[in-house]
Amino acid sequence: MSRFAVPDLGVGVGFRVPHYGVVINERPRMDWFEVIAENFMLDGGPPLDNLSRLQAAYPVVPHGVSMSLGDAVDEDHERRLLALLARLNPPWFSDHACWTGHAGVNTHDLLPLPHTEAVLRHVVDRIKRAQDRSGRLFAVENVSSYLSYRASTMPEAEFLAELCERADCALLLDVNNVFVSSVNHGFAPEEYLRALPLDRVVQLHLAGHSVREGFRLDTHDYPVCDEVWALYSAVIRETGPVSTLIEWDDLIPSFERLQAEADAARRVRDEAKAP
Ligand SMILES: [Fe+2]
Repeated sequence: MSRFAVPDLGVGVGFRVPHYGVVINERPRMDWFEVIAENFMLDGGPPLDNLSRLQAAYPVVPHGVSMSLGDAVDEDHERRLLALLARLNPPWFSDHACWTGHAGVNTHDLLPLPHTEAVLRHVVDRIKRAQDRSGRLFAVENVSSYLSYRASTMPEAEFLAELCERADCALLLDVNNVFVSSVNHGFAPEEYLRALPLDRVVQLHLAGHSVREGFRLDTHDYPVCDEVWALYSAVIRETGPVSTLIEWDDLIPSFERLQAEADAARRVRDEAKAP
């Protein structure tokens, strides 16, 4: 069970442009929504109007893609993120254990970190600063990856465990990312999960991925695959019911199809709860 006093929000989906109309006007059945923080870090205008209407109907949690924790802090990004957090007052906020660029160059990719003591110290400081300045719990997410660094001195799961411990932050465990990386790098996903502090998990991500030339690509454009459902079931038996989010960001289906995917996740949660 979680060491943090955060709510189990149930099963939600990302708030994506093709569904804005149906979600805001019809308020369809869904437990909660995750929003990409950077899409709403604005001073005003239609995006914030949409966000206010969303928040009036559902719990909303922001998820960032540009903190670039491996790089130096971007003070403009930080200021705008803090304003969004004050507006939403979420139970936690999140971003990835990654870097996205350096010296003003943005790759628009979530690039893996070298797993070294120096990088660990840097990212711990970044997360402590984010939690101190916001006064809120931060959840760090594991990314999928297609390469590793010769400089790394510890396995990724050990790096993440140490990171969460030293920063005293939460974990957003992306189950699909664990599976994608396990195939690409040839490790056992169960062993990776055993090395993580599952009592720090406040949110889970589920997504589909694609297969190209023997690699698994984290494309968020397919239903969740059987192997990821099985891992999800194993995780939820350890963590207990924890807020779960279906990510579907490309070839986005109808909202009804997303509801069906969320229902499938709810069934796995219910089975895991059964004695
Ligand atoms: Fe994710």
